[in-house]
Amino acid sequence: MVNDQKHIDEYFETEEEIEGEGKTPPFQTPKGVHDILPHDHEFHTYIKKIVRHRSRQAGFKRISTPIFEFTEVFKRTIGEATDIVSKEMYTFEDKKGRSLTLKPEGTASICRAYIQHNMKDLPQPVELFYYEPHFRYDRPQAGRYRQFWQYGFEVIGESDPALDVQSILLAYKIFEDLGIAHTLKLQINNIGDLNSRKVYVEALRDYYFGKERYLSEEDKIRLQKNPLRVLDSKYEDTIILNQSAPKFKDFISPESQAFHEEVLEYLTDLGIEYTENNSLVRGLDYYNQTVYEFWDEKKGAQNSVGGGGRYDGLIEMLGGQPTPAIGFAMGIERVIAQMKRHKVRVPSKDDLHVFVAQLGREAKKICIPLINQLRDRGVRSMGALGKGAIKNQLKIADKFKAPYCILIGLTEVRDQTAIIRNMIKGSQRTVKMSEVVDEIIKSVGKENLDFYNPQDPIDL
Ligand code: HAM
Repeated sequence: MVNDQKHIDEYFETEEEIEGEGKTPPFQTPKGVHDILPHDHEFHTYIKKIVRHRSRQAGFKRISTPIFEFTEVFKRTIGEATDIVSKEMYTFEDKKGRSLTLKPEGTASICRAYIQHNMKDLPQPVELFYYEPHFRYDRPQAGRYRQFWQYGFEVIGESDPALDVQSILLAYKIFEDLGIAHTLKLQINNIGDLNSRKVYVEALRDYYFGKERYLSEEDKIRLQKNPLRVLDSKYEDTIILNQSAPKFKDFISPESQAFHEEVLEYLTDLGIEYTENNSLVRGLDYYNQTVYEFWDEKKGAQNSVGGGGRYDGLIEMLGGQPTPAIGFAMGIERVIAQMKRHKVRVPSKDDLHVFVAQLGREAKKICIPLINQLRDRGVRSMGALGKGAIKNQLKIADKFKAPYCILIGLTEVRDQTAIIRNMIKGSQRTVKMSEVVDEIIKSVGKENLDFYNPQDPIDL
């Protein structure tokens, strides 16, 4: 539990240090994945509360798709030449030899579900959100993990620049609620409609024709499968070649240009600052028109906290009818890191109100129902019901940071009293046993009691 306050990135450092010395303890998490310890769960819970609230306010309903899908769902949509599909998928065969893949992202699965459950028959647009783990066999480093959580949302069934802006606004509002909006800058681009992309892809093929010998083996495959991916290349010769390649912005149709300008105009009206970034293409092939990401500008693309865009062709790629859509996802670990970096404090409900310490069998007999009664009345209580001396139990209460302690020893059992100790001030007073719960509630404050009403509206 000592490690609880550490940020997850520190675990990787620890793991590597230990590995380096050849002293790896037998059971550690595999590289790139991590436990979510209680301290980080406070962040997850807080973030979940905010994203659920904001999503619900905007008419979204929650969806969960399975952890794995048929591999083809991702191959067809994310694109075979992307890093995600070509290198990063956890793919395995089931016992009947079917190829399955742990979901590397949420959008393709949700579109599969949209088709499978005939959601086209629902009022459009269909608005769905999710908070799920995803898996990519990426090289682990700060902010990049092999299992990571995403909150995301999809708006399926309508196309209008106003929807693109509303999706950006929802993401922005959430960042604002999380206290990090001012640390992020929206990067936005328009990568054209499907037709202008086709024309552009042909222009790229023409450009690289005869220059293949300058390309790496990987880039040659990318050129065959999707020439747009060659533009993402990290190979030096390809990067030089790319500098003179045709530019996307020269191929965008007047309609796309008008669409883009409308989006920018709405953003300006809303006061959301943006950077027009012509090289923003995103790492997934299914996008068209608007694409966007939120960056900490000091850290750049490597630390995109969230990103999304329009994907009007995706549902058709999976065998559905042409259906326009737009969506967004944010990386929860990156959000948490950003919150910690900027010292955003998260209110915690995990702190104890009272620690009950006792001495002797008779006292223990009183303490068990007393703790039960305190909890029923909304007081977060814990009791040392072992055999330790009262002094030691007080030390434990201190470690749990309980602001109050109830002490019951032999004298208190005999007199039907209890001692309430204020652990912060170090003062204490004796009260009647029959009044101890009410007295504690007065000290804790009614507004701080912890109640859960099962009749409250469901918060998924
Ligand atoms: P993405 O940009 O691949 O988009 O991922 C969205 C966010 O997930 C990233 O901005 C980043 O914060 C986080 N993320 C991605 N990979 C990792 C990783 N290995 N470790 C930690 N965090 C990571 C999508 O996934 C699209 N499905 C978003 C979308 C929804 N587009 C339309 N609708």
